[in-house]
Order: sequence, then structure tokens, then C-alpha cells
Amino acid sequence: MTGLTSASPENHPWWRLSDSATEFPQHNSVDSLPLLVVESPLCRSVIAPQGAQLLTHTSYGRTTSNNDQLLWLSPTALFVRGKPLRGGVPLCLPWFGPHNEPGKPQHGFARNEDWQLLGAQADSDGNVVLSWGFGQYASQPHPEFPWRFSARLTMTLGTRIELGLEIQNCDTSPMPLSWALHSYHPVSDLAAVRVRGLAGCDFLDNTRQLERRRQQGDVQFNGELDRIYLSVPDEQIIATEPALAIRGSNCPSAIVWNPGYDKAAALADVGAEHGQEFICLERGNAGTNALSLDAGASHRASVSIGVTG
Ligand code: BG6
Repeated sequence: MTGLTSASPENHPWWRLSDSATEFPQHNSVDSLPLLVVESPLCRSVIAPQGAQLLTHTSYGRTTSNNDQLLWLSPTALFVRGKPLRGGVPLCLPWFGPHNEPGKPQHGFARNEDWQLLGAQADSDGNVVLSWGFGQYASQPHPEFPWRFSARLTMTLGTRIELGLEIQNCDTSPMPLSWALHSYHPVSDLAAVRVRGLAGCDFLDNTRQLERRRQQGDVQFNGELDRIYLSVPDEQIIATEPALAIRGSNCPSAIVWNPGYDKAAALADVGAEHGQEFICLERGNAGTNALSLDAGASHRASVSIGVTG
């Protein structure tokens, strides 16, 4: 059963149910995954209940002739039930990156499982607000993670994307938690892109066994780059055309990733020809910013993404 059939949104002219075979016929899909499509006067978005993953978002914010893609979905993304989808905003939860116990999935399991659509409504500004719940492990823990927990992700979709996340430890002992809203963004010229707002921050360099270093000036891309920036300012700018502002609240880490040519070529759902088209600028709690969430406690955080300048 998918997250959509169990809690379908009421009929509304701004959203409808669809599937990946219909929306992405050019993709080489194994499964046709159910999708929710939002088409409002402010934006067009496609969301997969699997992972509560926003896949594409076209903002009609600037001019009607100049629509902005805020997210990148790999042209070679594979739609396979239970497998991560390459692009948009996957949610890494309840851990970020590889687990220190072998055999556990990279970036946790929440991105591979169905979330439930709890509500869909239009707010007074014309945004579509979707609320997604991940409650299947609130009373029985997942086999890979021995704490009972639940999560809720609220998407406010308009000319900007606003994501609000709440994670609750439903168990009786402190729960280790790391997570990221792992957003993929299109870039017009990777060699010319700069990420502003990280100068002076320490980072863990994942291309050098997580060696701790300090950022000088803007971030630039020249080959593989894979870094967890720690205790960062709230806002970063991706200086490309159009420039994007990513603002996080209560998410002190910024993970910046581009696989570089060789790793992109080795990823079946990216490919050498597409590795230059995006960067990830993810916000969350990762590396030494990981949390311990007290029994019964909740962690709330938000990320907003929009065109700037
Ligand atoms: C980034 C990590 O967040 O995600 C990288 O820093 C990783 O190390 C990348 O390669 C993609 O991960 P995945 O599991 O989606 O291929």
C-alpha cells in the first residue's frame, strides 16, 4: 500500500495523483511509483510518497516566461520501489552517511519507504501545504534501528520551497540522530559556481577520511567535492544562474557534494554526462553536529530554498 492510497488528498484543482511512468516517460523505470503532482498559480512540483521526496519544483516567481527549476532530478534517475531516487530532496534519516555497522543502508531508511500523506491544503498566500508522516516505527522499532521514533515533514510549495521537519524519539532512552534534507540543485556552469556563506567554517573532508579543515573564501568545484561543514551560518547562496538562497533553521550542518567526473560516471543514475549539472547543498545535523535526542523529546528544523538576487 502506498502513502497516497491510505490518505488521499481531497480533490482540489491544484493537486492530483499520478505515477512515475506518466510524469517521467523518458526515464528507464523498473516500477511505476505513485506520485503527487502540484500545479498552482505559483509553482509546479512533483512529489514521491516514497521518502516524502520532492522530486521537481518549478517556481513561477520571477516572470511568466522565465520559470526557475529549484531542484535537479537526474535524467537517468531510476524509479525502483524501495531504492533511493537520485535528485530532488531525499531525506537522510535516522542517520546521515554510512552507518558504522556494516550492512546498514547509507543515509538511513526513511528515503526508501513510503510516507503517509496526512493533509493537503492551500494557504491564503496561494502556497500548497502538504504534510507527510512517518509513523510506522513509533511503536515497533525498525530492524536496523532499535529506537522507536516518528517523523513529520511539512512542505510549503509556492515560489519558494519551505520544508519543516519534526523528529520525535518515542522510546525510553536517548536516541542517536543525524539527518539531512539532501537537496540537489541545478547549476549552469559547475566550474564557475560558487557557494557563499561557508567561509571560515570547519569541515570534515569525506575525500580525505573526514580530515577536519577550514574553508577559506567561497566553495569552488574542481573535481570530486564531499564535505560536511559544521556549525554553519543560517544562509548559503549558490551563485549560479539563477542564484539560489538556502536557509536553514536548527540544522547546523551543510553538506556540499558533487561526485566529480569519475564517480559520476560510475553512478548508473547519474552518468559522466550529467555529473556537471548539479551540486548538493544539504542542511541537517551530521558529523560532529549529530544529536542525541532524549527519551520523548522532539527535534524541529526547517529549510527554505528560493531564487535570490
Ligand atoms: C552525500 C554524501 O550527502 O550523499 C556523499 O556526502 C554521498 O558521500 C552522496 O556519495 C550520495 O549518496 P547516495 O547514497 O544517495 O548515493
